[in-house]
Amino acid sequence: MKQVHYYYTLCLAAMLLASAACNTSADKSTSKQTATETERKWWKEAVVYQIYPRSFKDSDGDGVGDLKGIISKLDYLKSLGVDIIWLNPIYGSPNADNGYDISDYQSIMKEFGTMDDFDALLKGMHERKIKLVMDLVVNHCSDEHEWFKQSRSSRTNPYRDYFHWWPAEKGKPAFRPGSFEVDGSAWRFDSLTNAYYLHYFSYKQPDLNWENPKLREEIYSMMRSWFDKGVDGFRMDVIPFIGKDTTFPVITQKDLDEKYEGRWDVYFASSPQLHTYLHEMNEKVTSKYDVMTLAEGAGTTQKTALDLVDPARKELDMSYHFDGVNLGYMKEGFKRMDPKGYHLLEFKKIYSDWDEVFATKGWGTVYLGNHDQPRMLTRWGNDAPPYDQYSSKMLTTFILSMRGTPYYYNGDELGMRNIRFDKIEDYRDIESISEYGKVKKAGGDLQQFLNDQKIGARDNGRTPFQWDNTANAGFTTGIPWLKVNPNYLQINAAAQESDPNSTLNYFRSMVQLRKKEPTLVYGKYTLLDAQNPSVYCYTRELNGRKLLVLLNFKANTATPNTGIDLSKANVLIGNYPSPSKDGQLRPYEAVILELHVL
Ligand code: NOJ
Repeated sequence: MKQVHYYYTLCLAAMLLASAACNTSADKSTSKQTATETERKWWKEAVVYQIYPRSFKDSDGDGVGDLKGIISKLDYLKSLGVDIIWLNPIYGSPNADNGYDISDYQSIMKEFGTMDDFDALLKGMHERKIKLVMDLVVNHCSDEHEWFKQSRSSRTNPYRDYFHWWPAEKGKPAFRPGSFEVDGSAWRFDSLTNAYYLHYFSYKQPDLNWENPKLREEIYSMMRSWFDKGVDGFRMDVIPFIGKDTTFPVITQKDLDEKYEGRWDVYFASSPQLHTYLHEMNEKVTSKYDVMTLAEGAGTTQKTALDLVDPARKELDMSYHFDGVNLGYMKEGFKRMDPKGYHLLEFKKIYSDWDEVFATKGWGTVYLGNHDQPRMLTRWGNDAPPYDQYSSKMLTTFILSMRGTPYYYNGDELGMRNIRFDKIEDYRDIESISEYGKVKKAGGDLQQFLNDQKIGARDNGRTPFQWDNTANAGFTTGIPWLKVNPNYLQINAAAQESDPNSTLNYFRSMVQLRKKEPTLVYGKYTLLDAQNPSVYCYTRELNGRKLLVLLNFKANTATPNTGIDLSKANVLIGNYPSPSKDGQLRPYEAVILELHVL
């Protein structure tokens, strides 16, 4: 292990000084890295942990997680070693879409607590050197927001142009799909003023009109007020959708197919005004603070992603794509059909191609789970014993050894898995409920739909955090808003704390490894043995230091063909008690090796 520390110290020193490379025989690709490396940023080196507040910890017995609950777990967060917490929306909201329908951007949702609680939470995080990133939901707000109440009250109201209205005397507006509506339309007729309003999501989430400079200034001033409190950044909800062609032209299927890959989300994300607004936001707000910005890159593609995050454009810092998490779903549009497994070759290609997008500029992200996804272990690994432990750790190794900021979802460190509800009545998510309504209306196969939801539904990832083996997994003393997974008796944080081989402690070790290995953060990524159907292997390389990551994604033993002599390699981490050193991988084995480069 001495060798490990030697290389580490040497390379870190080189990075910190941004000086000459450790390796004097630096080739062209190494100098390519240097461009990225000199743009060191705290948000590139951070590990982000996402908390879904509704399901994390309830402090007052109402069955809903809250801010005081998170405060009570600050030491747990510190113990994970993570640097940034991203909190899903905690603002005033009637909760049609669990906080993604905001009725007051400057208050705290009653169920979650008060502004004093928020201030205490932020202070507690900062005292522990953890940064806090909030969700910014500004493509739409709630129909219960004062702006919308005013706007809908009359055609001449000063807030009318805060939203997109289509007067009914012009006939029906051109079709736009509305995600969470059984009728599938993003337009809702409002008899009060005889007009339709636009809502890309549910009718409770009217889209804001970014063409209106007054609206933009209101958003910017709201953002400043959170930054002035000390918030460290925003994750921006469906932000590519804010620019719209407000003439609302008819889009034919031919247009969609030819210009937008047949995808409405690509059309929604394609307006040139988007970049005008984001640049303006950068100039007027985010550039004035030391904060990070992350786009939920809905509708963006490998061709367009850099338009958001190329630093020269002065828009946003990072973006997350959907190509990875959508693998297996896309052929059915947005419906979360049972992916029936996925092909590792496609998976490897997607992540490798995305790495290439940011190879010389911009910065990417890596994630396998979040509140919009089922559980990582069920979807991408194998949640059945005896493989569950191994595959959970293997996926954790993947997320934390790729280039790009890792986003890790709460509960995945415990190996939490899909709950697989049998009945629609168990679901709380507007998406599952509205999709069920669509299938029913169309006379479709409801049983098939429910089977598919067992894999793909968002509520699988939203069940309460499993703290211990007491009632309701220690999440609440009341009735949980969403059922707790009955496996909490075995799978819970308390049981894993004391087990050195637990998935929880493996996550901690992986976080520490990433933090002491700049090579894992900034190093060049090279895919090896691309056609291997079982193993994902790649090297990470920085200033002469080279690491090899070997991940067996299958339940069979496998041998990657890396062409690398491993006889002098050192194991940095592995998910089996005695990690393979010869490249032969057991089921779901993950190992990171330090190669001795001369
Ligand atoms: C993306 C969010 O992540 C998701 O949870 C929400 O339903 C939609 N945007 C609408 O805000």
